[in-house]
Amino acid sequence: MSGAIGIHDLEIATTHHVIDLADLAAARGVDADKFRIGLGQDRMSFPAPDEDIVTMGAAAAKALLERTGADGIRTLMFATESGIDQSKSAAAFAHGLLGLPAQVRAVELKQACYAGTAALQAAIGIVARNPQERVLVIASDVARYALHSPGEPTQGAAAVAMLVAADPALLEIDPVSGVFTADVDDFWRPNDSSVALVDGKLSMSAYVDALLGAWDDLQARGGARPDEIAAIAYHQPFTKMAVKAQRRLAAHLGTALDDEPLTTMSVYNRGLGNSYTASLYVALAALLDGDASLVGRRVGLFSYGSGSVGELLTALVRSAGAGRAERVQRMLDARVGLGIAEYERLHAVSYPSDTDAETPRVTAGPFRFAGIRGGARVYEPVG
Ligand code: HMG
Repeated sequence: MSGAIGIHDLEIATTHHVIDLADLAAARGVDADKFRIGLGQDRMSFPAPDEDIVTMGAAAAKALLERTGADGIRTLMFATESGIDQSKSAAAFAHGLLGLPAQVRAVELKQACYAGTAALQAAIGIVARNPQERVLVIASDVARYALHSPGEPTQGAAAVAMLVAADPALLEIDPVSGVFTADVDDFWRPNDSSVALVDGKLSMSAYVDALLGAWDDLQARGGARPDEIAAIAYHQPFTKMAVKAQRRLAAHLGTALDDEPLTTMSVYNRGLGNSYTASLYVALAALLDGDASLVGRRVGLFSYGSGSVGELLTALVRSAGAGRAERVQRMLDARVGLGIAEYERLHAVSYPSDTDAETPRVTAGPFRFAGIRGGARVYEPVG
């Protein structure tokens, strides 16, 4: 064994529904090119009433575990911004749905979109301590902004499940990374709000500050140099943000950076919308699936979570994502379109925890949120 630790395998899941941003633009009286070109988004996933972060996260993990098995998994970390309970972790629900053994520690992590990367780093630490162990990391989010707000076209939903292991097949994460934290109110979600509050322009400058700060820290700590990094996968709240970020990084470095990978990594996110904690790893998957020439080369991963925390990792690509591009395309094509009136109706639906309620059966995924019984959330396999 080489001592290498990283992502052994990765799988993506999303929601039952999808909204075409051309329809949203028409309904809001906005030129469709503002969303398609200005934001770089085509469609956004939207959950059915019986879907949420748990059903998406467990669906991604189920597909992953069918390939890898669960041997050696003693930790399940669930990263999310859109938590469904103030106390019980989404990891505990997912653990139950996946039928994992009791000898597993299960926990939820939060720092806006950054938490998936915190989970990945913690997982690497666990595997470094005991290379026989493997860690299941789930990053799953539903991005929700108020109807008619500037953030509305940047909603979306997806989950990524990753198996972190020694001697990984997919991606070997380098030990050195660059980190950056600044206490800033660019985006947040109060405990009693189902939608995020955001200062859009501040959020974009905070993202760039975190990127440049993390870059400088990476260099100061002797991390990979610019000429050693073939492409950087970015957190994509909307895909144009990665273009803006890379331009600012190039100006910071005083050198041109190759823009081609920005197109490759955007292919899935353009159709999913923002998936907060999952977004960077969706971009990474698209990059690996779309450019086999990256095998044997080093990529960067820039993770940003409002509030704000940034981290720039680098990693050696060990293989391309066998067959995943076809699976993701099938999944994107299988979503059922929602008209804007129905989307607006569903956007307003919430299930208060003090009233028992059953959800309608809609999702075609493997798991569903059945409703509230005795004040508690109930999940079940779709059978
Ligand atoms: P806005 O004010 O509606 O849009 O909100 P705008 O007027 O700035 O226009 C957007 C772009 O479209 C501009 O391009 C326009 O020129 C262009 P730019 O100049 O910036 O390159 N445009 C057009 N292009 C082509 N044809 C047209 C046309 N019209 C205009 N006809 C904003 C945009 C992103 C602020 C809004 O959507 C928003 O608030 N989104 C949510 C916040 C967000 O995504 N922030 C990103 C950074 S923070 C982050 O990544 C963290 C996050 O994921 C949360 C977490 O950490 O958990 C959000």
